[in-house]
Amino acid sequence: MNYQKITEKIWRHHSLETAAHDYTNLIRYATMAASSHNTQPWKFRLEPGRISILPDLTRRCPALDPDNHHLFVSLGCAATNLVEAATAAGLGSQIHYDKTISGLVIDLKTASPSRSVLFNAIPKRECSRTTYDGTEINTHDIQDLEKVGFGDGVSLMILTGEESLRGVADYVAKGNTTQINDSAWVNELKAWIRFNASHAISTGDGLYGRVMGSPDVPKWLSNLILRFALTPENQNRKDMKNILSSSGVAVFYSESDDKEHWIEAGKCYERFALQAEALKHLLILQWK
Ligand SMILES: Cc1cc2nc3c(=O)[nH]c(=O)nc-3n(C[C@H](O)[C@H](O)[C@H](O)COP(=O)(O)O)c2cc1C
Repeated sequence: MNYQKITEKIWRHHSLETAAHDYTNLIRYATMAASSHNTQPWKFRLEPGRISILPDLTRRCPALDPDNHHLFVSLGCAATNLVEAATAAGLGSQIHYDKTISGLVIDLKTASPSRSVLFNAIPKRECSRTTYDGTEINTHDIQDLEKVGFGDGVSLMILTGEESLRGVADYVAKGNTTQINDSAWVNELKAWIRFNASHAISTGDGLYGRVMGSPDVPKWLSNLILRFALTPENQNRKDMKNILSSSGVAVFYSESDDKEHWIEAGKCYERFALQAEALKHLLILQWK
C-alpha cells in the first residue's frame, strides 16, 4: 500500500457508532493529535466508563526535552481530541489530572451527541512549516481563537506586527543555534526523522522528511544530506522567513511549571489548532 492510501485511511472521520464501552474509535481520534517530534508518547487505559491517558516514557526525548514538558504537552493534545470525539459520540466527559499516574482520567457518561467545529477539524489539522501570505487575522477570528486557547492556569498571547514577530524570530534563532550545535540533540532528531515513505510507513511515527520540505532519499544518503543541510544559518533563514510571513504567533504560558499545567497547555494548544483549521476552512468556503 502506498503512503497516500495509508494516510487517507488514518486521517479521516471514523464511525462513532460502536458497542457500549468500545472506545477504539475515540482513541483513533486522540492519536491524530500533535506530539513533539511526532513521538506519540501516550498510552491509553480503557475501563467501562473511563479512559486514562498515561505518559509513555519509552518515547521521551532526553536531549530535546530533559524535563519531559513536551511529552506532557503532547498528552494534553491527545486529551482534547479524545474529549471532542467523545462529545460527538454522545459521551459527556469529566476530566481530571491524577498525579499518582502522572496522567489524565476521563470519566464518560451518556449524553446527547454533539459534533463541534473542533471535532470536525480533527482529521484536517496538521502542522505546516511553510512561508505564509501574511493575511491579517480579523478581530472576530482572534476572538474565536482566544475563546478556546485559554485554560485552567494557562493563558494565550497572540503576537502580530513586524516588530513583535522579529522579536520572536530572534528567540527562535537563538534556540535553533543552541540545538543544532548540540550533537546529542542532532542525533536524537536524526533518530526520529523518517527519510522516505517506506521508512515512515514502517514506523508510523516520527518526522517524515517531506513534511519539512525534504525529498525522499535512501537512508544511507540521509546522514550526508543532514550534515550539510542542517545548519543554524539555514534553519534560521527558513524560520525567519516563515515567522515574518505569518499572520501571527500564538504563545501559551502557564502560571505553574509542572506536569499538570504542561498537559493543560497541550489541551489549549490543540483546541487552538483545531479552531484555526476550522477558520481556514471557513475562509476557503467564503472565497469560493
Ligand atoms: C510539545 C510540542 C512541541 C513541538 N515542537 C515543534 C517544533 O519545535 N518544531 C516543529 O516544526 N514542530 C513542532 N511540533 C509539531 C510536531 O512535530 C507535530 O505535531 C508532529 O510531527 C505531528 O504532526 P501533525 O501535528 O502535523 O499531525 C511540536 C508539537 C508539540 C505537541
